[in-house]
Amino acid sequence: MRVLVTPDYRTLSEEAAALVARAVRAKPDITLGLPTGSTPLGMYEELIRKHRHEGLDFSRVRTFNLDEYLGLAPDDPQSYHAYMHARFFDHVNIAVDNTRIPDGSPGVDANAKCGRYEDAIRNAGGIDLLIVGIGSNGHIAFNEPGSSFESRTRVVTLAPETIENAKRHFPGDADIPMSAITIGIRTILDARRILLLASGSGKAEAVERTLRDPVSESVPASALRLHPDVIAILDESARRR
Ligand code: PGA
Repeated sequence: MRVLVTPDYRTLSEEAAALVARAVRAKPDITLGLPTGSTPLGMYEELIRKHRHEGLDFSRVRTFNLDEYLGLAPDDPQSYHAYMHARFFDHVNIAVDNTRIPDGSPGVDANAKCGRYEDAIRNAGGIDLLIVGIGSNGHIAFNEPGSSFESRTRVVTLAPETIENAKRHFPGDADIPMSAITIGIRTILDARRILLLASGSGKAEAVERTLRDPVSESVPASALRLHPDVIAILDESARRR
């Protein structure tokens, strides 16, 4: 894993967006794996700026989101569907038909849809560049500690720490979903190239364990060390020395 440490979050966001923009320019019909959460917000802002001011073209780009809460309709403001539209898709020239996000709508048979999500990724030719954050417990997407490195898209129960961290984004405790649909660790490792982002001291321990502890299912992000083409962009506070 190559590691780039930036002085601050803004620089992390610019470096991440520059890497994604280079990849999109090199392959205009690229398939991206896209994250949600706080960490990629600056990267999305910078990509929107590059679209507006540098002509970065998303018209042929295809995307697969990494995860979605279970029990939230796409139009629920807390859903990752809503996040992606508000923070990125609605501000660039991406074709909505080229974007996929796992469907966590109430009443939907989520388990039945997981295999089809994997099929859709395969039919798109696989993910060329997958961008992922890290949880303070070392999770990647919603693959919590203990997730098999062979896991694929599935319904998972969120770890207590993940639910605790999500609280700041939800108006009331009762609304926080306890489960989610996530692509698996194997799905992530199948991507041709991976960009890991981590910002802030709350991630420093998880980052340290990812880079230094033995590769183990107790630290899901450590699986990334098994992949030949991973770059981690960390800001200084996430990289304790
Ligand atoms: P965050 O989440 O970007 O909101 O910190 C990252 C993650 O839990 O994967």
